[in-house]
Amino acid sequence: MRNRVKVMHGVNLDTLGRRDPDIYGSFTLTELETRIRNWAYELGLEATFFQTNHEGDFCEELHKLAGVADAVILNAGAWTHYSYAIRDALEVAGVPAVEVHISAVSEREDWRRNSVFDGLVVEKIDGEKADGYRRALEILKGELST
Ligand code: DQA
Repeated sequence: MRNRVKVMHGVNLDTLGRRDPDIYGSFTLTELETRIRNWAYELGLEATFFQTNHEGDFCEELHKLAGVADAVILNAGAWTHYSYAIRDALEVAGVPAVEVHISAVSEREDWRRNSVFDGLVVEKIDGEKADGYRRALEILKGELST
């Protein structure tokens, strides 16, 4: 059964809980991961987690994805807006991907509107805070059942 979802957080997402709560909510990354794990379980999915502040490590985790995960949810933080290295690494991973942003990137500074993942991801979700991850899991559940 294809049900393994890797949830990858990039640069600065380990500081959730200390970032502006109006933009990012007041939950920590650990609390967010617990919610995601429970939502995944309810959907019959198995979530595993990865976070790093190092771009090369994020790429290497994507290189290793095939074979250990069937799908990926990624919130690459600010790398989203400029890291073509991470875009290329996601292409290598070759699994269905959903891009999530906790904040409404489309309503913030202009530079946050650009995403290097355009055209590679099944869907981009922003501005739904933690709930965006639940919707991402639902979308990937649909992808993995087809
Ligand atoms: C973010 C949005 C990015 O623009 C920002 O750099 C982040 C977090 C989000 O989840 O809203 O670090 O990806």
